Amino acid sequence: MEISGKTRVCGVIGDPIEHTLSPVMHNAAFKHLKLDFVFLAFRVKASELGDAICGMRGLGVHGLNVTMPHKDAVVEYLDEVDSTAKFLGSVNTVLNRDGRLLGFNTDGTGALKALRENGASPDGKKVLLLGAGGAAKAIAYALAKEAGELRVLNRSSEKAEELAGLLSRTFGKKVVGGALSSSAVQRSLRDSDVLVNATSVGMDPNAKQSLVSPQWLRPDLCVMDIVYSPVETELLKEAKAAGARVIGGAGMLLYQGAASFEVWTGVSAPVEVMRRALLNKLGSGATG
Ligand SMILES: NC(=O)c1ccc[n+]([C@@H]2O[C@H](COP(=O)([O-])OP(=O)(O)OC[C@H]3O[C@@H](n4cnc5c(N)ncnc54)[C@H](OP(=O)(O)O)[C@@H]3O)[C@@H](O)[C@H]2O)c1
Repeated sequence: MEISGKTRVCGVIGDPIEHTLSPVMHNAAFKHLKLDFVFLAFRVKASELGDAICGMRGLGVHGLNVTMPHKDAVVEYLDEVDSTAKFLGSVNTVLNRDGRLLGFNTDGTGALKALRENGASPDGKKVLLLGAGGAAKAIAYALAKEAGELRVLNRSSEKAEELAGLLSRTFGKKVVGGALSSSAVQRSLRDSDVLVNATSVGMDPNAKQSLVSPQWLRPDLCVMDIVYSPVETELLKEAKAAGARVIGGAGMLLYQGAASFEVWTGVSAPVEVMRRALLNKLGSGATG
């Protein structure tokens, strides 16, 4: 890839950022489509977020992915956000359109696409979502439109209840929120078709942890874990052993990235190229 005076710059901002997989995925896609774009990672401290976004405007940076801890705080620096980002109060993608900064959130649609691609469509199904943090909220928003029934359990129960109330009022669907206790997970799982872990439980370096006991898992269950490090979490290993359909966090990562790519370039993302780049980086054995 030759960098010229016309090369468009995209990147990801976050803190920490060294672990990010976005550059490998997006640069592979730009190269494959011979697009004159480059993707970089920028470590931006919380206290410097405003300066970073001013810098985006001043330097004419074309697009950004926004990750922890800036997804919510970035909203106030943008000119406009789409309806999803507005509902969530959270942005993971910024487009610089002729100096106007537009915000989007592609996390929820990314998760939904990963589910569908793996034969785990939530349409009309009973879905149990663990977590009510940033990623969980985006997934809940996408799921609430499609699922027959959505149950959200979170360690801090008030966050789950608030989210469920908001979603049921918005979509007129049955969305229930509650505390993430062992007995609540067991009870809710009994009549669920799809389970999504959107907490950080099971993430390296605590890869042996899971919120779900192996004996509660069944072959007719679809289990998605959005944690992608490790690529196969304890939950997924146990779900696979129980004969359930499993979907790893790499799928959501891929499709939220593909949606961001399309926002910046206006062309269809080369999903298979991006998937290969991502899975190469994550290591073999990745699912989704
Ligand atoms: N695959 C992808 O594309 C993708 C995208 C975004 C994030 N992720 C992954 O998703 C995970 C969550 O990210 P996030 O941005 O949503 O983080 P976040 O906003 O900090 O939320 C963390 C969530 O995990 C829960 N939690 C943390 N420790 C727990 C514990 N010991 N027991 C029970 N619940 C616990 C929190 O509950 P409380 O509210 O009670 O604290 C909260 O619901 C991370 O592992 C992240 O890497 C993956």
